[in-house]
Amino acid sequence: MTTRPRKAAPKRPARARSPTAASPAIESIPLPVGSKGHPAIGLGLWGLGRWTAEDEARTKASAARAYERGIRWFDTAEVYGGGRSERVLGDVLRRTSDAGPEAFVVTKVSWEHLRPTQVRAALVGSLGRLGRASVDLYLVHAPDPHVPLAETMGALEQLWKEGKVGAVGVSNFSVEQLEEASRHLAETRIVVNQVRYNLFARDEAEPVRDYCRSHGILLEAYTPLARGLLRGRYLDGRRIPADVRKFAHRLFEPDRLPEILERGRALRDLAVSADVPLASIALHWLRERGAAPVFGASRPEQVDENLAAWQVRPPARVLAAADRIAKGVRA
Ligand SMILES: NC(=O)c1ccc[n+]([C@@H]2O[C@H](COP(=O)([O-])OP(=O)(O)OC[C@H]3O[C@@H](n4cnc5c(N)ncnc54)[C@H](OP(=O)(O)O)[C@@H]3O)[C@@H](O)[C@H]2O)c1
Repeated sequence: MTTRPRKAAPKRPARARSPTAASPAIESIPLPVGSKGHPAIGLGLWGLGRWTAEDEARTKASAARAYERGIRWFDTAEVYGGGRSERVLGDVLRRTSDAGPEAFVVTKVSWEHLRPTQVRAALVGSLGRLGRASVDLYLVHAPDPHVPLAETMGALEQLWKEGKVGAVGVSNFSVEQLEEASRHLAETRIVVNQVRYNLFARDEAEPVRDYCRSHGILLEAYTPLARGLLRGRYLDGRRIPADVRKFAHRLFEPDRLPEILERGRALRDLAVSADVPLASIALHWLRERGAAPVFGASRPEQVDENLAAWQVRPPARVLAAADRIAKGVRA
């Protein structure tokens, strides 16, 4: 385990666990740096970029429900809603008396703020919106080819030494970028790479998966439910909204869509025959690959449904069949 050379963030007083914290039990994945384990599943607060007052209220209600139901990992970023996402999360956690020690808060510095002074200023802004003295994990949202990683990683390491971030990670990094970034950390190391990963989107994750595993880097999987498709949405001809299409990274493009929907329906049939929710297959397929899913939810009921799905672990043969179906391997 890597430890800070100087005194880390002050120890927090032990407090009683909230009565809801134990339900449902979410396991914790040990990290090589930082004082907390990383929850195996979390809630992301990007909100699909929808930030009207009504959306904000729904996102807030979803985050509050997630906390109540035992979710502790919350993923946000300075760019989400121009800071609104961090503010919403800060509000929700402030209302919960045990949220300080219990929450596992992850935020990200924008790809537009990767110079050292910008990184520090970005974190100060995020901490202000979150209402916290530190975050558990601070990620580089995506690399900027115009800014040397030496500068960015040096700045992150300094913030880690100061105890303002519990651990350092990255997002959307290739193996080459992970190697390069790691070279510029002297006393700490990268603990997470957050990438798009689901049954229908493997291009970014699979090339980095082995590297991450062999270097003790946890793969956080974003878009684990393929924007609801892997919960059964859109499979029966329901119109796919423009904003869902826009951010879906080729998933819903006309040349792929008919095949994706056909495979989605075959996955749903598999789930029915195995008597498990389709989302259980999607989430546990990731888990089996060593990835920790961070799902989105625009309403509290989706949090409930996704947590219920997490509680059902499909048999390995079902996950293997799902893998083949999603890849288009015919029996
Ligand atoms: N690092 C990065 O570059 C990056 C990029 C993207 C995302 N992320 C992070 O990953 C998080 C999750 O990403 P995502 O939103 O793409 O993931 P996702 O979980 O695949 O999609 C979330 C959407 O799926 C639908 N959904 C979720 N649960 C549902 C349910 N039970 N029933 C029906 N529909 C359901 C909802 O759509 P509706 O809202 O339409 O109902 C929800 O907004 C983000 O919030 C963010 O924190 C990171």
